[in-house]
Amino acid sequence: MITIDVETVRTWLEEGRPVTVLDIRPIHERVEWSIPGSIHFDAYDALKANDPQALAGVELPGDIPVVTVCAAGRTSLIAAQQLQARGIQAFSLDGGMKAWSLAWNVAEVPVAGDAVYVFQVRRTGKGCLSYLLGAQDEALVIDASLDPQVYLDLASLYGWHITSVFDTHIHADHLSRSRQLAERSGATLFLPEKPRVSFPFTAIRDGDTLAKPTMMLTALHTPGHTMESTCYLLNNHILFTGDTLFPTGIGRPDLEADEQQAQVRASALYHSLHKLLALPSDTLVLPGHTSMPVPFDGIPIAATLAEIDEEVGMIHAPREAFLQQIMMRLPPTPPNYRQVVTFNEMGLLPESGVTDLEAGANRCAIS
Ligand SMILES: [Fe+2]
Repeated sequence: MITIDVETVRTWLEEGRPVTVLDIRPIHERVEWSIPGSIHFDAYDALKANDPQALAGVELPGDIPVVTVCAAGRTSLIAAQQLQARGIQAFSLDGGMKAWSLAWNVAEVPVAGDAVYVFQVRRTGKGCLSYLLGAQDEALVIDASLDPQVYLDLASLYGWHITSVFDTHIHADHLSRSRQLAERSGATLFLPEKPRVSFPFTAIRDGDTLAKPTMMLTALHTPGHTMESTCYLLNNHILFTGDTLFPTGIGRPDLEADEQQAQVRASALYHSLHKLLALPSDTLVLPGHTSMPVPFDGIPIAATLAEIDEEVGMIHAPREAFLQQIMMRLPPTPPNYRQVVTFNEMGLLPESGVTDLEAGANRCAIS
């Protein structure tokens, strides 16, 4: 067997099994996204040219399996063959980094004192962060970005039945799996109330509260990144912020907006951020995305409001300066975001090419 699938590699990494991931892509591809802990050896051109010495200079640690990686899993096959010819146990990652987009890992968020569990489900291959909240026999999911089976399996491990599924907003950088998860689990699908989508859902408004045994989730409407953007506050101390507020930045207000609309959204964002900053400073913020590959370290990506208050200088600027700064710091727009939004407004997934549509690093934040 010379190829290995994403699920096996991600499981090995999550279990801490010894494996060397060898990334043979050109450096400009690697800087966009990579597999955490992988080593880099740019042998791409030499391998494409079938140079038998392409990997002669690579240093591989010890007698452990090697997984070779390229963009789509073709050149890495040549690499695995060459290593096998040297007597090394080598595999090529099937589908390459494109398939790796769907790889994920989990971190438990420590929750003091409550009989509630919070798991951050991290799509390491793309930077999307989703959440599974469980207590007694019930679970809630926020911003599902992976195959519904991932959440169903995790929930069943703990004896939970998923009863409610939430999105913080209509996403532009990944295809939401919330509608599909709600259908598969029989859960209620909650979305912010703005009438953007063309399928049935239960509208959630500012101040609405969902009370479950030991879990109380309160919606805070925080327009800005999008006008429907909504944060969810669990038990008054854990805040799921979607793309409104990140540990090191704030949400961009310009996707699917002309300049004037972006200004209106930026102004709304200013007020929303100050609404969040008025919460107790030890409130733990759990964001909807990260712009870096997520390590298999079990450490949640999170920060308290106090830490963010110190880290993100822009939020202290007077309103006019904030508006100016935000428009100057906009990152490049993500590829395909219009099509992604269209699918999310329809609540559909394309029949094929999901990872093509979702290609590219996450670019929802301004830091
Ligand atoms: Fe977003």
